[in-house]
Amino acid sequence: MSTYHVDEAAGADATGNGAADAPYQTIAFALFTHGQDAKVLVRKDAATPYDEPTQSALKKAKKGADGLEKKKKKAEELATREAQAKGEERERKEKLLEQSKSIKLEEDASLPKANKAKIGNLAPFRSQRVRVFGWVHRLRSQKDIIFIVLRDGTGYLQAVLSGLTAQTYDALTLTLESTVELVGTLQATPEGKTAPGGHELSVDYWRIVGAAPGGDDAFTNRLNEKSDPSILADLRHLVLRGENASSVLRLRSLMLSSFRESLGAHHLLEVTPPCLVQTQVEGGSTLFKLDYYGQPAYLTQSSQLYLETVLPSLGDVFCVQESFRAENSHTRRHLSEYTHLEAELAFIDFDGLMSHIESIICETVDRLLQDEKSAALIKQLNPTFEPPQRPFMRLSYVDAIKWLNEHGIQHEAEDAEGNTIKDEAGNAKMVDHVVGDDIAEAAERQMTDIINTPIFLYGFPAELKSFYMKKMAGAEQGGHVFTESCDLLMPGVGEIVGGSMRISDMAELMAGYKREGIDPAPYYWFTDQRKYGTCEHGGYGLGVERFLAWLAKRYTVRECSLYPRWPSRATP
Ligand code: 4AD
Repeated sequence: MSTYHVDEAAGADATGNGAADAPYQTIAFALFTHGQDAKVLVRKDAATPYDEPTQSALKKAKKGADGLEKKKKKAEELATREAQAKGEERERKEKLLEQSKSIKLEEDASLPKANKAKIGNLAPFRSQRVRVFGWVHRLRSQKDIIFIVLRDGTGYLQAVLSGLTAQTYDALTLTLESTVELVGTLQATPEGKTAPGGHELSVDYWRIVGAAPGGDDAFTNRLNEKSDPSILADLRHLVLRGENASSVLRLRSLMLSSFRESLGAHHLLEVTPPCLVQTQVEGGSTLFKLDYYGQPAYLTQSSQLYLETVLPSLGDVFCVQESFRAENSHTRRHLSEYTHLEAELAFIDFDGLMSHIESIICETVDRLLQDEKSAALIKQLNPTFEPPQRPFMRLSYVDAIKWLNEHGIQHEAEDAEGNTIKDEAGNAKMVDHVVGDDIAEAAERQMTDIINTPIFLYGFPAELKSFYMKKMAGAEQGGHVFTESCDLLMPGVGEIVGGSMRISDMAELMAGYKREGIDPAPYYWFTDQRKYGTCEHGGYGLGVERFLAWLAKRYTVRECSLYPRWPSRATP
């Protein structure tokens, strides 16, 4: 019979084998493993020699070994019972599934007629039979009842399948995102319970319209909370089915309607200018160029020039049109294609233009807060939203430069070629702002967030702005000429509107083309506005995604666009 070793200090029951160099830690374990009669030698620690255990230690260890034996038996019993239960459950399910194939649901023609309705319009049908179609948004089964949250774009409906309706093969194999037709009685949710819309559908007949896959290809395997941003971008079409994404899009739709109502109330007419153009508006560096039947053409950067031409025809006008910017910007407020709400007003002055922009924004927000649906969406997405206070702060560009310097907000120094100047440690050299600097996004954002109210930043130097901007009379300073231009800055997002008065004088416009190196020939139609009855006029462009990011407190404009485009991303 071999001898088993126990080292009470350095031994290990779990990994030892009883050899002198791999001792157990307890005598009890040695006896439990090798039988009560096994020969055991024990030592306190490596400094003492192995010796036979005392009688009392052996007695105690035998008791311990009995305990271990009992524990082992219990665990084995439990495992057997669990396996049995699992097997039975599996068998039960398989049997149910097999039986389910013979259960065929039929709509009971003797029941009252079910009215077809969208989920959002169900309230008048309480206590009646209704027929709804939609996607399975959530799915849960408890005992023999199946709970579905159905989604049809107008809202969410809780539905309950019980009895036969929960026993069909389709019911037992139903998957998320399948489309279904549900028919049943709409019941107000009992007191103390909540459900979307305050009611629940007790289903008496249903069928699958289009089954979604389960298993590896199941919706939740393609997309879930842990999916990384590039997968979310590739699967934007599926992301849109989510509660947040669809709420943002719903608010976007209501917001556009609200803007249209506000603009209409100010007697502006909507027009739809072209996207394919042969003139630039905001500088050649951000133009998407394309071949147009052998001629150069571009995707529009702004519809402004076209809107200006409509003033003598329709009076004040606006458009909601896609604008395109070939900017290599990966910031959270830049898109390569964005929805541009632009307006143009005739016989107006600069002060009147800024007041108009303020009115449109505040009236649009007021409309959204007055409407039950949009107010609820704003509350859901941006619970702390407060409508902006009027009048908006007006801060001249020159004063903004002073403000930045007084608050120690600097920018990276650049050499003549526009390269960042670095110090010996490789860090960018930071310098104060001077008049003539283009206030960078970071500085502008810092200033807006500190001031924390909407700001009209106005009067930018002509050299920073486009060829069409009207000069501010008598405002030259240190060799700089300023323009009647304004950006509206919002806390959290920064610039959401860019606007200006336009040059109304022919000679001044010609000088503007020249300064920007633009050939006036293709702009003949724009120039003609100054020739055939000029007028003082101005307008603005509002970035719809930026406005929505502000309203719905979204981290990036990418969440505010249906299918956002940014450098290298035009899919899906
Ligand atoms: O300041 P911008 O470039 O002005 C114009 O295009 C004028 N022609 C508009 C006009 O007066 N009719 O652009 C106007 C607004 C910006 O304030 C910003 O909200 C948005 O358009 N915008 C962008 N939004 C998303 N991604 C981009 N790359 C954007 N560029 C401008």
